[in-house]
Amino acid sequence: MASPELKSYVVLLSVFTGTALLSSISAGTGPLAPCRFPAIFNFGDSNSDTGGLSAAFGAAPPPNGETFFGAPAGRYSDGRLVIDFIAESLALPYLSAYLNSMAANFSRGANFATAGSTIRRQNTTLFQSGYSPFSLDVQSWQFYQFQNRSQRICSQGGIFKDLMPREDYFSRALYTFDIGQNDLTSGYFSNMSTEEVKATIPDILSKFKSAIQSVYGQGGRSFWIHNTGPFGCLPYVLERVPVMAAQVDRAGCGTQLNGVAQLFNEMLKGTVARLRKDLPLAAFTYVDVYSVKYSLISEATKHGFEHPLVACCGHGGKYNYNFHNGCGSKAVVNGTEVVLGRSCGNPLTRVNWDGVHYTEAANRWVFDRIAGGAFSDPPLPVGMACHRQ
Ligand SMILES: *[C@@H]1O[C@H](CO)[C@@H](O)[C@H](O)[C@H]1NC(C)=O
Ligand SMILES: *[C@@H]1O[C@H](CO)[C@@H](O)[C@H](O)[C@H]1NC(C)=O
Ligand SMILES: *[C@@H]1O[C@H](CO)[C@@H](O)[C@H](O)[C@H]1NC(C)=O
Ligand SMILES: *[C@@H]1O[C@H](CO)[C@@H](O)[C@H](O)[C@H]1NC(C)=O
Ligand SMILES: *[C@@H]1O[C@H](CO)[C@@H](O)[C@H](O)[C@H]1NC(C)=O
Repeated sequence: MASPELKSYVVLLSVFTGTALLSSISAGTGPLAPCRFPAIFNFGDSNSDTGGLSAAFGAAPPPNGETFFGAPAGRYSDGRLVIDFIAESLALPYLSAYLNSMAANFSRGANFATAGSTIRRQNTTLFQSGYSPFSLDVQSWQFYQFQNRSQRICSQGGIFKDLMPREDYFSRALYTFDIGQNDLTSGYFSNMSTEEVKATIPDILSKFKSAIQSVYGQGGRSFWIHNTGPFGCLPYVLERVPVMAAQVDRAGCGTQLNGVAQLFNEMLKGTVARLRKDLPLAAFTYVDVYSVKYSLISEATKHGFEHPLVACCGHGGKYNYNFHNGCGSKAVVNGTEVVLGRSCGNPLTRVNWDGVHYTEAANRWVFDRIAGGAFSDPPLPVGMACHRQ
């Protein structure tokens, strides 16, 4: 199952090394060597949650996982996420969630992301607003604990030693980030205007910067940072903020909503540029996932997909998304339990899985475009992301 990804990766890699060779020859330096990342540490929200929220608050229900895992696998998708394809391409196993105490194997990294996570702490509980208590600052403390305790466990030997990363992996690992979307939607869901949401971005990014500085302080050196996607194209936002859904572009996406995502990304790019100056021992790759996802949604047919604004798994309405009856939800009708949020049955041709998240097919499509560096600054493939500009 991994071979098509690995094959395409090798192709991308060789295309890239050709270019790198040329530019490095002209610069008078040697070609870039692959980084051979021994581990991945991931931070984020549901876009990269491989089981964190499921471990803490109850498992994502079927039909999540139906396409690839054949059963729910802690992911809000029918199959793999972009982070899974990244792991495959680096010949690393899928990441265990830090919060998962069952059969977790952290020898090649750990995942601190949980669905509903924000960069800033929310002042509401998961039960009130749906946002995770594991905000990015909490994830960075968990990483601190993880590093400290895993090394103590290794030094003590015994059965858990082989499930922990080696000490040198922390400086050699790839640190991946995909977070921010929920900070912006939480503003809209608490009835802020677009101007009010925009005004929160500097504070969101200052918290993001602190988290990166903390990971750098713990030895992180290679950072792969996804910008935020076009959340104005997602059914759950269009459905919950009808006033914004009234102003859409040709693709049917909320123009003000996506405008906020684009402003966030512009400022995130500036933050990453400052981090490069402030933390000179680290390599930072900023990845424009927004453009890739927007192209997939706005030109879905051209790319072999259909109904990009309609959830595959859901329950009715214009977008097949119902806030109260999500993917996999059940109800008792006339004494019989029935599933309300069913899969459309053909997620391979669909972009949106459940109104909030992308299908495996969409995630693979996005990974295939970002893996080679065509949407990155600097334009390095993921396997080369240890090299500083
Ligand atoms: C943990 O993962 C590593 C790397 O994939 C593997 O070599 C090892 O056998 C795994 N350990 C257990 C106990 O599953
Ligand atoms: C939570 O409340 C604190 C104190 O009032 C405030 O500074 C912070 O911005 C609030 N966070 C969010 C996400 O609104
Ligand atoms: C882990 O934490 C303990 C106690 O807080 C501290 O003494 C120790 O130096 C830390 N170890 C590492 C590897 O950070
Ligand atoms: C937002 O406004 C709607 C409509 O006025 C209201 O029903 C809802 O309670 C408000 N939400 C918040 C979080 O204030
Ligand atoms: C439930 O049962 C009633 C009475 O038999 C029937 O009229 C109704 O259509 C049923 N509802 C559904 C959703 O099947």
